Amino acid sequence: MCAPKFRAVLLLTAAFAAPALAQQATIAQGQQIATQGTLQGVAACVSCHGAQGAGNAAFPRLAGTGQAYLQAQLDAFADGRRKNPIMQPFAQKLSATERIALAMYYSQLPAPLGAPPSAVEAPSVTRSDAGAWLATRGRWSDNLPACAQCHGPSGSGVGAQFPPLAGLSVAYVTQQLQAWKAGTRPPGPLGLMPAVASKLSDKDVDAVAAYYSALATVPAQAPVQGTGNALQNNTKGARP
Ligand code: HEC
Ligand code: HEC
Repeated sequence: MCAPKFRAVLLLTAAFAAPALAQQATIAQGQQIATQGTLQGVAACVSCHGAQGAGNAAFPRLAGTGQAYLQAQLDAFADGRRKNPIMQPFAQKLSATERIALAMYYSQLPAPLGAPPSAVEAPSVTRSDAGAWLATRGRWSDNLPACAQCHGPSGSGVGAQFPPLAGLSVAYVTQQLQAWKAGTRPPGPLGLMPAVASKLSDKDVDAVAAYYSALATVPAQAPVQGTGNALQNNTKGARP
């Protein structure tokens, strides 16, 4: 049993711990873990996610993805809300400060370069191209907004909370959408993605996954490093 006074101290500590941790975490610390791993047995992130975090057919991209999003994913792997046999053990062996440092590091790396948005934002999308149609138009008869409304034109990601989709593998996108349908991936901000995924048939999932995996990646619309606040980040200027 803990005495009421002691409990109050615990509560206060919890309230102040998060900002204090964020102050300790540095981009340099994130970079060191990313390239060298840790003595606690965390493998260097670069060995799977690529030297610059650009990802590949098997592992998702991290570079230029919003800090708040990355941090939330690492926390969810660590406490088991997001399940994955490869990532969970690594995230569990990282301290909270280290997870913040890694999110800081990867969010400020430049997004991998690809085709300009104009090349992929086809105004001539037809209904027969189910993936492109869902991605750019949605399906309003089901109250399903276009993926592009939240993930940006050409899936480049928006701000700190909406991750990029362009260039993610078919298998990865499919697994994430199915995980939301099955309730095995945490809902994320406002439960937006479970609501979206619940309206997608298996055929829809295959179609949008194929569409996004075929898109070349483009830089995110706004710089995403810093406070995790999309509005503040937007005022920081320095667009590519
Ligand atoms: C052995 C390979 C491997 C290593 C090493 C690895 N990862 Fe991963 N990572 C994965 C896999 C596989 C996934 C996809 C998990 C899923 O399907 O949910 C992933 C997913 C992620 C995600 C979620 C991405 C998203 O878009 O939601 C983050 C964040 C992440 N890893 C960060 C890291 C960091 C930081 C490190 C280094 C400390 C690291 N990973 C090391 C294999 C690895
Ligand atoms: C109303 C806004 C909204 C719409 C519309 C939307 N998304 Fe999302 N999406 C989000 C948010 C927010 C997240 C981050 C969830 C989290 O933090 O776990 C996300 C995450 C994702 C991810 C995970 C990416 C990763 O790196 O793991 C995938 C895949 C995805 N969305 C696919 C889609 C597809 C496909 C569509 C269209 C059919 C779509 N989304 C429409 C808001 C949206």
